[in-house]
Amino acid sequence: MEGKALKDDVYILAIESSCDETAASVVKNGRTVLSNIISSQIPLHTLYGGVVPEIASRKHIEAINQVIEKALEEANRKLEQITAIAVTYGPGLVGALLVGVAEAKAIAFAAKKPLIGVHHIEGHVSANFIEHQDLEPPFVCLIVSGGHTHLVIVKDYGTFEIIGRTRDDAAGEAFDKVARAVGLGYPGGPKIDKAAMEGNPHAVEFPRGKVEGAPYDFSFSGLKSCVLNYINHAKMTGEEICVPDLAASFQNSVVDSLVSRTVAAAKEFGYWKVALAGGVASNTALRKGMESACKKEGLSLFYPSPIFCTDNAAMIGVAGYYEWLKGNTSGWDLNAVPNLKLGER
Ligand code: KG4
Ligand code: ZN
Repeated sequence: MEGKALKDDVYILAIESSCDETAASVVKNGRTVLSNIISSQIPLHTLYGGVVPEIASRKHIEAINQVIEKALEEANRKLEQITAIAVTYGPGLVGALLVGVAEAKAIAFAAKKPLIGVHHIEGHVSANFIEHQDLEPPFVCLIVSGGHTHLVIVKDYGTFEIIGRTRDDAAGEAFDKVARAVGLGYPGGPKIDKAAMEGNPHAVEFPRGKVEGAPYDFSFSGLKSCVLNYINHAKMTGEEICVPDLAASFQNSVVDSLVSRTVAAAKEFGYWKVALAGGVASNTALRKGMESACKKEGLSLFYPSPIFCTDNAAMIGVAGYYEWLKGNTSGWDLNAVPNLKLGER
């Protein structure tokens, strides 16, 4: 990679506030996480069955200063000892993103530090570099979060070629909707994951969504409708639903779609390294399913620990470091871009 001459260690202070976690982190030289502070609003949003954007923004404002202070304190670094400030500027909830962006701009301006706007999804992918110090692009990455489902080739740090995407719901969204329908509550992914451990994945044979003519695209809305129909039918006929069986069967269908396309893409495009990213990458069945499929095909699989799969600022610090190396700093006009596309800056 072309880049800066690295005489000194690089310390990135990173801020993440795109959804319902207020997070800050200090990352050294792009690979070593010195602190990773996450203030989660999940218990608050659980009361409403999902993220309430207005509440999220207010809570970010309340928490952000303390979270940043704690991140610096735990890293044993003063602001003057920080090289640059990285912040998620999209995609995400606009009011939530704005809190982090405004904060990062204020700190960077006052402390005379460079500002680096980071793509949230680039952050998710970069989470893999934290615990896999030898992992370098290129590799195939399956990105599965609450808002995104993408199959990409990571050609270089921050450079992606998209080979598949969802045509309707994101994988995490499907988990959340099905969990709500069976009364498991928010956030649905971890609840389905847990319930499924006691269930039979073959109890109900749900369809695997396919997109005609696009072998690497995903579709989860048909599966979601089938699950909802199944629940309605059971309610009408007075049958009792076995939640663990339903959760395991639904999850099995999602995992099958994700694993088969990812492994097929790695083989077709000739990559032997496969990585997972995003909140759904912490799903137990997905990790197991991908592990055994990769083993069978002789592929190496990488995924972050659960704490680095769901939203955090350490991943933003890693992505920020590689953008900094490329000289991609942002101006004081950096703004929140709620629908920022993957590959855009
Ligand atoms: O990456 P993330 O924290 O936020 C977004 O950028 O969207 O992902 C959140 C999503 C939610 O839909 C949540 O239900 C899902 O990730 N999730 C899981 C698991 N943990 C979180 N889905 C399945 N199994 C899990 N263990
Ligand atoms: Zn995320």
